[in-house]
Amino acid sequence: MCTAAAENKYMQTVPMGHRKEFAQFFTPVEIAQFMSRWILQNEKAQSILEPAFGLGIFSRALLEEKTDLHITGYDIDPTIFLSAQSLFDSSQNVSLILQDYLQSDWENKYDGIICNPPYLKFHDYDNTFATSIIKEKLGYALSGFTNLYTIFLLKSINQLNKNGRCAYIVPSEFMNSDYGVAVKKYLIESKKLRHVIVFDFEKDVFEDAITTACILLCSNDSSNASVSFSCVKNENQLYELEENLYSTTCGFSNDIPYSDLDQSIKWRNYYAGEGKKEFHNLVPFTTYAKVSRGIATGANSYFAFSQKKAEEYNIPESSLLPCICHCSDIKGHFFDNTDFEKLRVENKSVFLFNGQNNTEDESVYKYIQLGEEQEINRKFLTASRTPWYALEKRVPPQIWVTVFNREGLRFIRNTSKATNLTTFHSIYVNDSHKEYVDLLYAYLLTNTAHQIFDENRREYGNGLKKFEPNDLNLGKILDISIINKSDQKRILNYLEQYKGGVMDAINKIDTIVQNYVSAPNNMDIQMLEDNGILCSTILEQYPNEIVSNQSNNNKLDYSKNLLVSLVKTDNFEFFLDGSAKSYYTGKKFPSSVALNKLYYFMPYMKGLGIRDLYLIKIARVGTRKEGQPDNDPNDFRLVFEIEFVTQLFPDYKKVHLDIWQTFKDTTLEAILYN
Ligand SMILES: C[S@@+](CC[C@H](N)C(=O)[O-])C[C@H]1O[C@@H](n2cnc3c(N)ncnc32)[C@H](O)[C@@H]1O
Repeated sequence: MCTAAAENKYMQTVPMGHRKEFAQFFTPVEIAQFMSRWILQNEKAQSILEPAFGLGIFSRALLEEKTDLHITGYDIDPTIFLSAQSLFDSSQNVSLILQDYLQSDWENKYDGIICNPPYLKFHDYDNTFATSIIKEKLGYALSGFTNLYTIFLLKSINQLNKNGRCAYIVPSEFMNSDYGVAVKKYLIESKKLRHVIVFDFEKDVFEDAITTACILLCSNDSSNASVSFSCVKNENQLYELEENLYSTTCGFSNDIPYSDLDQSIKWRNYYAGEGKKEFHNLVPFTTYAKVSRGIATGANSYFAFSQKKAEEYNIPESSLLPCICHCSDIKGHFFDNTDFEKLRVENKSVFLFNGQNNTEDESVYKYIQLGEEQEINRKFLTASRTPWYALEKRVPPQIWVTVFNREGLRFIRNTSKATNLTTFHSIYVNDSHKEYVDLLYAYLLTNTAHQIFDENRREYGNGLKKFEPNDLNLGKILDISIINKSDQKRILNYLEQYKGGVMDAINKIDTIVQNYVSAPNNMDIQMLEDNGILCSTILEQYPNEIVSNQSNNNKLDYSKNLLVSLVKTDNFEFFLDGSAKSYYTGKKFPSSVALNKLYYFMPYMKGLGIRDLYLIKIARVGTRKEGQPDNDPNDFRLVFEIEFVTQLFPDYKKVHLDIWQTFKDTTLEAILYN
């Protein structure tokens, strides 16, 4: 029976450092057996290649199922090679070769190729040779950042006999990273990829390696219409999937025709598609804020200052820009001037040398000279600036976000005077949405916000996730303006609790947010929130007029309530020239609107927006089509008898109708100045 005894013994005797050097992470037995079964679906299979042999878990799994196989195995590490040789010493089926797979065996073809290729972090090897050999042998150009494991894959795909099959287990990173675009293009063009099975297991597939894994199953046959993408959460699902894998109509997976496959998009869109939650009410992130990178000095050790260094060089405060230089200095999620002071007292680097405005100061002048002596002015970034010691102009952002993070995005609310180096990205809330800073921040802390952003992230080695400013700028967020007032209040309240150390408060915010992203449109949310009040019921409370307002000789009262209401295109006529005398609502009216305070009215012309201000002279309950023959005496509506006051804006202007996408309850002051 195939077991992991050999691998376990090897792990106990060979130091981790050696195993890491050769990327020796072993495939679990069940997964090796699963992949072997794919290979053996080619019933005529005889010649098999194991390009990264290790201790031959795949060969053992294959030979357990079929005994007439000729297996060729490559490994580059003499240590593991010796152990493998003694394991397969007596086997007639296996020939082992101690060589670099990429440098050997380009001419041979096989009926089956099965592999868990070495996965090395980009910095740990030089891939110039590997990419150049692909260029030479396959005539195909790969990015200089291409990871070795995908180069193994491309070579193997090229070595398949007719009807030959290939099974690879690799990190899923290439499907969602920039260098992977060329790899995906090759996979699309060669049309041999059949299945992509991504592991979304709670525990890592490889015990010692933090990486997201996937199995790629390829076949050199003519059934090359589509690729099926599946995401499995546990071993049971893998077996369930296998039952369907060999049938042509597999309902389990997401089949993407080759003609629709796009190398330029993140393939997460294909495999995360099925179980993926559908989010609603999203707008581009840039609707509310913009992310930009922090200050790049080009020579941090010269520009960064602690309090002591400032004293040592006698640099005046006016030539020091408060700036967070190290990510690790910010521990929590909130950062204010008191926190900044603490870091200053602890002698952390919290300033940047800002000599530009103060060159007459002797110490500043001396420090600039010191920079020139040390040739700081000749560095790549400094040499391109005039003067070389000028800093990029940045104001303190309201929110920071960490660039790299193993747990995903980390946001920090900054109310201090400090700006930041590139260790953080800076989030600047748009001027028109300043009032939403805390609400936006609370939203950004939630799991839901991260899930939505996740669709745009890149994957780097070792499970590290990286967001570039544009990954966020191009991402989506909940349109937070649709959150009703009482939920806004609750969210801000929970945010305060979170600040006070109540960790669970974020989950409560998330629950509220989930309501908004899961409702098909904001109309439904508002309906849930405020089902409205029937105009017939209002009549019971107000049998006469609800309000009666006197016109004030066109003198505007900014504190008065203003109701913006949607006017459909077929009712435009009298509203375009200001001659409208009445406005009828629907059968239901939002119960959140204070009826006794109705004062101003602005028609929201569908597709155009608001422009003209009217006074509600009288608000009362009446019936639709009053005075007309087809008037139904029981069809109650709110009726506003209105009078044109003034054209408030030079042109029509769009505002968000936050109640049922029909009304906005506000004040004259708010509409003018927000
Ligand atoms: C991830 S391990 C897989 C071992 C085994 N096949 C398994 O699945 O358990 C990768 C193996 O490839 C070997 N290796 C690394 N670079 C190689 C190369 N350029 N050519 C051949 N083998 C290589 C390593 O020594 C290691 O044994």
